[in-house]
Amino acid sequence: MSNPAIETNENTLDRYDRIRPIRWTGEALELLDQRLLPFTVQYLCCDDSDAVAEAIRSLAVRGAPAIGIAAAWGTVLASNGVDAIDGPSAAVALQPAMQRLDEARPTAVNLRWALNRMRRVLEASGADWRARLLAEAAAIASEDLAANRRMGELGAQLIAPGSGVLTHCNTGSLATAGYGTALGVIRAGVALQRIDKVFAGETRPWMQGSRLTVWELQQDGIDATLIADAAASHLMKQGDVDWVIVGADRICANGDVANKIGTYQLAITARFHGKQVMVVAPSSTVDMDTPSGERIDIEERDPGELLGVSGSRTVAEGVQAWNPVFDVTPAALIDAIVTEKGVVLQPDAAKMRVMFDA
Ligand code: MRU
Repeated sequence: MSNPAIETNENTLDRYDRIRPIRWTGEALELLDQRLLPFTVQYLCCDDSDAVAEAIRSLAVRGAPAIGIAAAWGTVLASNGVDAIDGPSAAVALQPAMQRLDEARPTAVNLRWALNRMRRVLEASGADWRARLLAEAAAIASEDLAANRRMGELGAQLIAPGSGVLTHCNTGSLATAGYGTALGVIRAGVALQRIDKVFAGETRPWMQGSRLTVWELQQDGIDATLIADAAASHLMKQGDVDWVIVGADRICANGDVANKIGTYQLAITARFHGKQVMVVAPSSTVDMDTPSGERIDIEERDPGELLGVSGSRTVAEGVQAWNPVFDVTPAALIDAIVTEKGVVLQPDAAKMRVMFDA
């Protein structure tokens, strides 16, 4: 892998960072409603925590880091109705609302990670618990943005100038506080002139790739070519792709990665065609308590998502469908895991421990 240095500066990277999907107004949480994109750009206003839980469940807000951030703000909203003398009492009062946020989606560990952070702050707070809860939610959001910028730089350095990349699902600003994880690396790689060609898979059935990723890249003026998910092997055989770059919903202690359904087959075809696989995720996605991929709860959504397109049914009545929305890529098929803490090449349990058990 050739790796000549290309100068990085803030302005180069700033060029491609425009979208902010999560806005805290001081009284409510505004979420760029991803169910309506790309044709309607509209923020959904949530003024209580159950509205946030429903927004997470219904994919109005989606993507592992984004749902963690939304849940943190959801906890702040839940605290509006709580009159507690100190943080531990507030934690008891907030528990049912936090539980409902936690149960909104099962696979991405960032949701539980963010709620645990909020809970720990409450446990450590006195009469100032309300201000500290608010500050923690703001910190979770701003740290995510900073992590994405750092991962962008680290990931782009792995890519040789003139490369082609294929991404899956949406891992961009929409899925995070801003900039994105895998899409952040692609933004940085384009800005630093390492990436010449970007391909994005449609990501059936919810179409995160065709509805969100190519729209996001278009907003930033980055050329991207959409492919049907089923075209990935053919594309790699033709040679236009050097790296498959994806995000993650959970990274296990042995380096196995849960991500959007279809990631596993991309990793298999990448290995067959001699292409590399990069997983980009903040350390909040790393779950050292889950030893391997078999232990991950894979969300299965309404089979109805598979039975039609844009609300129109395309499948005969009575046909059954199965709709798991994540899969697990074994560590052995991954060339690099990029986090804001650093890069783990050819991940395994020992390397993961060195990077994340500190
Ligand atoms: O079901 P979704 O759209 O929430 O799934 C999202 C993904 O699988 C992403 O790849 C992952 O959350 C990383 S987002 C930075």
